Amino acid sequence: MTDSSAKKPFYVTTAILYANASPHVGHTFELIGADVVARAKRMLGYDVFFQTGTDEHGQKMLEYAERAGKDPKAYADDIAPGHRKLWDALDISYDQFIRTTDDDHYAAVDAFWKASAAKGDIYKDKYDGWYCVTDENFVLESQVTTRPDQPDKKFCPECGNELTFKSEESYFFRWSKYQGFMEQWLQDNPRFIEPKFRANEMINSFLKPGLQDISISRSSIKWGIPVPGDPEHVIYVWFDALINYITGVGYGTDQERFDRYWPADLHVVGKDILKFHTLLWPAMCESAGIAPPRHVFGHGFVSPRAILTAEDGPAQLKDTIRWEEREGGLKVFDGDVLVGMVNKSAATDGDSIESIGAAIIDSLGDKVLRLAKMSKSRGNIVDPVAVTAMHGGNPDPLRFFLLREIDFGGDGIYSDEALLATYNADLADKLGNLLSRTLTMVDKYQGGIATRPAAYTEEDNAVREVLCSLFEKTDDPTGTTDNPAYTQYESLLDQCKFGAILERVLIGAQRLNLYITETRPFTLAKDPEQTERLQAILYVLVEGIRLLSVQLYPFIPGTAEKIWQQVGGQGSIGDHPFEELKQWGHLDNARITRGENLFPKAEK
Ligand code: ME8
Ligand code: MG
Repeated sequence: MTDSSAKKPFYVTTAILYANASPHVGHTFELIGADVVARAKRMLGYDVFFQTGTDEHGQKMLEYAERAGKDPKAYADDIAPGHRKLWDALDISYDQFIRTTDDDHYAAVDAFWKASAAKGDIYKDKYDGWYCVTDENFVLESQVTTRPDQPDKKFCPECGNELTFKSEESYFFRWSKYQGFMEQWLQDNPRFIEPKFRANEMINSFLKPGLQDISISRSSIKWGIPVPGDPEHVIYVWFDALINYITGVGYGTDQERFDRYWPADLHVVGKDILKFHTLLWPAMCESAGIAPPRHVFGHGFVSPRAILTAEDGPAQLKDTIRWEEREGGLKVFDGDVLVGMVNKSAATDGDSIESIGAAIIDSLGDKVLRLAKMSKSRGNIVDPVAVTAMHGGNPDPLRFFLLREIDFGGDGIYSDEALLATYNADLADKLGNLLSRTLTMVDKYQGGIATRPAAYTEEDNAVREVLCSLFEKTDDPTGTTDNPAYTQYESLLDQCKFGAILERVLIGAQRLNLYITETRPFTLAKDPEQTERLQAILYVLVEGIRLLSVQLYPFIPGTAEKIWQQVGGQGSIGDHPFEELKQWGHLDNARITRGENLFPKAEK
């Protein structure tokens, strides 16, 4: 093994999840995406450090703990291990699981606050305004939303939950001072925020209107990290939480480590918290005198599909969407998102919920389903444990489905049915069939040994090209690499285009299936004159499958390792340098093993 310090460091993080409940399938989308990056970068030869963890302070955590009749730390101690256990079960290869209640995090936040204060960027004032406990977010008066049916309440423009009014003494961070810095930063680093359309949203909705100083302490709650020198205040949960990314690599405790891994190469976060990561966090870093992270990717949301169908009955709409009467029509909202208008005359039976609901389902059914947000209050949480249980605890069908079917930058829908359809079509039919047919033939015709042929035909070379196309050299879209062997694979990875990688892998699998149809090895086997040709074809198949296992490894690591071993790969994929893995012709006289069927057809 090579010395890790000789490798190029790569630091990737996920958001730290609130430790108020178990993660749902939407959270797994983020962790799986980040894990693919971490695993692939390791395979490509980087010294990867991959961090995830839990966010344990703030008013929301306090309220959950109170409801459970527990002290907040004890409550977090109950919940956080479950997160870890889930990530382990999903084969998330995190190197560190950080908790914001860890001692070293307290030390890092304390040091960071002092650095920012020394810069003159923290001052005491009074906060009067709206607060969303669900998002732990201060909401500007201009962003507050209202509802005609509940005129004396205010609602969060993001999550739709009710806001509370705060009036308390508070410390503020001079965010406004960093307006110019942020403008310059985004101009100099055009790939800092991805995808591009989300970058535009950040710029137009938040940067252009002007950054305003932000309250960064609370004196009305007592659960958080104390403000240095003023313990009556605790530090605002976001100011505390963002610092996790540097705590994890030794800020304030291990300068050498910090210098090695910081700035982070990639923060993977959801679209709802992009503002904190792309506009506040870099300004905080600049204030405290450290470099901002290099790259933030804002992924989309996964929603459940079948919360409401016509069969569920219109009455259940009531908890999910709401509507307002407007000029004879009904304006229909999901949370605060307008999903469309319904003609009131379509409600045949007057004003009853049943009647209005039926009309809404009729005319807007798909849109209502599409926008349904996963949440506890709606009772539509998809539990990843139940999903993997459908496959005997194997996390790979879920991992594969999410990244194959949902563009990482966009939103998508989860349903058991869609997962099964993808699993059966891509994994069982394309890959599983290919594998079992190939192994059977090698076993039967060549006593289980795949031998490298002396020469390839044009037919063989055409297949080889398809299988190796992901490993072709290309330019680095980031313009930051000094690696002359930069490949298509890494380029797609660096853009979080996971679906595009899988698409190409499947094209490779289909090409091999077609090659079987075209070359008819089972017919050749009957002709003793064709022994050499048969040997070459079976080798192309085995070696092709081996390459597919390498390409699939970051996505479905457990299954890919088994494929690798079944086609006669030595040890584990991770033990081999990438230069060797991607080389056509790696296997020679490989003994195949017809082990368990890796892709049994699944039914619900
Ligand atoms: O926001 N689909 O924590 P969180 C996809 N503690 N991603 C989703 C999702 C869905 N349906 N629902 C949530 C927090 N997420 C803070 C982060 S970081 C310094 C502090 C994503 O538990 C969400 O966008 O509410 C976020 O990236 C992550 O899950 C954790 O969300
Ligand atoms: Mg959230």
